[in-house]
Amino acid sequence: MRFLRHLFQNNSAWAAEITRKDPDFFNALSSQQAPAHLWIGCSDSRVPANEIVGLLPGEMFVHRNVANVVVHGDLNCLSVIQYAVDVLRVRHIIVCGHYGCGGVLSALRDDKLGLVDNWLRHVQDVRWKHQDQLDELHTEAEQHDRLCELNVVEQVVNVAQTTVVRDAWSRNQPVAVHGWVYGLRDGLLRDLGMVITSPEELLVKAKAAREGVSA
Ligand code: CO
Repeated sequence: MRFLRHLFQNNSAWAAEITRKDPDFFNALSSQQAPAHLWIGCSDSRVPANEIVGLLPGEMFVHRNVANVVVHGDLNCLSVIQYAVDVLRVRHIIVCGHYGCGGVLSALRDDKLGLVDNWLRHVQDVRWKHQDQLDELHTEAEQHDRLCELNVVEQVVNVAQTTVVRDAWSRNQPVAVHGWVYGLRDGLLRDLGMVITSPEELLVKAKAAREGVSA
């Protein structure tokens, strides 16, 4: 109860296995990190960022919260993006949602779960914005899937609207913002076809992605 021994056992086995493959791995990583990717994903325990894309420690900077939301005034998320872009100089920012997201479903159903409802208001903003499109879908499952996608689309837009990313683009620092959705049922990623590398591209790609077509 107090010590979670099995997790420490797992940890020593994991560290031993990595060291067996590359004796200098931890030594080299301890002096610096130079990840090329920033992952912004859901806190859901079934969507472990590094694992599903096969990246090792040191290869991806990660920020996760309930329903992978990027809020303009969230100092936590903004600080992660700023550090990743300005200091680590990541090339790619990936917003990855997932089908079957409980946070998105709660926003869709207007569930009452407590404090988290306030956070999920941001997903409800996405829902209200696209209510006409969601109304055209016949089942809740279809609406849920689509809202998971639309939530990613709007969070990609929010990333691309940050002063951090705008400033990087204005000084010609290459940063691409991607929108992906992960499938819990098959373990596969789906690219929403929304790669944004400039303010001009944002306008075109956001319109297409909101309508559900790849630009
Ligand atoms: Co989720």
